[in-house]
Amino acid sequence: MSKHGVTIADLLKLASSLEPVSDSPRLDIEVLLGHVLGKPRSYLYTWPETQLAPDISQKFQGLLQRRQMGEPIAHLVEKKEFWSLELEVNASTLIPRPETELLIETALQLIDKPRVRVLDLGTGTGAIALALASERPDWQILAVDVVAEAVLLAGKNCTRLGFNNVTVRESDWFSNLSGMTFDLIIANPPYIAADDAHLGQGDVRFEPRRALVAYKQGLADLDTIIVDAHKYLAAGAWLLLEHGYQQADRVRELLSTAGFVDINTCSDLPGHERLSYGRWRA
Ligand SMILES: C[S@@+](CC[C@H](N)C(=O)[O-])C[C@H]1O[C@@H](n2cnc3c(N)ncnc32)[C@H](O)[C@@H]1O
Repeated sequence: MSKHGVTIADLLKLASSLEPVSDSPRLDIEVLLGHVLGKPRSYLYTWPETQLAPDISQKFQGLLQRRQMGEPIAHLVEKKEFWSLELEVNASTLIPRPETELLIETALQLIDKPRVRVLDLGTGTGAIALALASERPDWQILAVDVVAEAVLLAGKNCTRLGFNNVTVRESDWFSNLSGMTFDLIIANPPYIAADDAHLGQGDVRFEPRRALVAYKQGLADLDTIIVDAHKYLAAGAWLLLEHGYQQADRVRELLSTAGFVDINTCSDLPGHERLSYGRWRA
């Protein structure tokens, strides 16, 4: 510490205190410091001798303690980037994952036409709906979630980003969509089995079970969506689903049994099967 007070350089040295809980302790400290200072991370390297005002230093210490208890960085800074969009996040739903960007890439490859009607089931922060809206301003996107706080959050993200082609509403899967028809239904539903050991590790400990866990070894919500989707799909429309990397065989089977055609699975860069889709019969 300098003789006048705590400096940026002093606080950066606290990174080692995060080693037991984080794979990226230095980055975490930089993000938290940048957040309390309201500055980009580059500022920390340009002005390491800057002294922090006592209230800022106290705020930083509070966040550091919460991180030391394992709380996700995204909850501490209340935001997360997805598809280059800055989304507000909170504990009501999932923190958007980079893996889910494969769903966006695949949807954009599958459908290359204007004025597509899209349903994002289990929207959470609105990540999928808003990413698609940013790419296709002429698509009409309805985003639903069963959790009222998540609906509010997605609506807030939509308003802040200024998209006028996204509507958000509460619905228990299809319960509040009667009479509606879509050209694409897209979802990243809960798909983790209740006894999965990962639920006790890392960020997921702080995320709601409702966003993560499904009965029937993680397949119950995928099954419900696949069985009911055809009532809301136009002829020739697509159903596109993220799932666990060991669930692809089962999801393809469910799609086939439900009557979908042109069924396929996509893998992420490390080669894990991350999503499957099918087309409703034309
Ligand atoms: C894995 S999270 C995905 C959130 C977001 N789409 C994303 O990719 O970041 C699953 C979401 O489904 C919502 N959900 C769970 N059960 C639901 C249901 N029965 N009807 C609608 N949404 C549901 C959860 O609240 C949660 O927001």
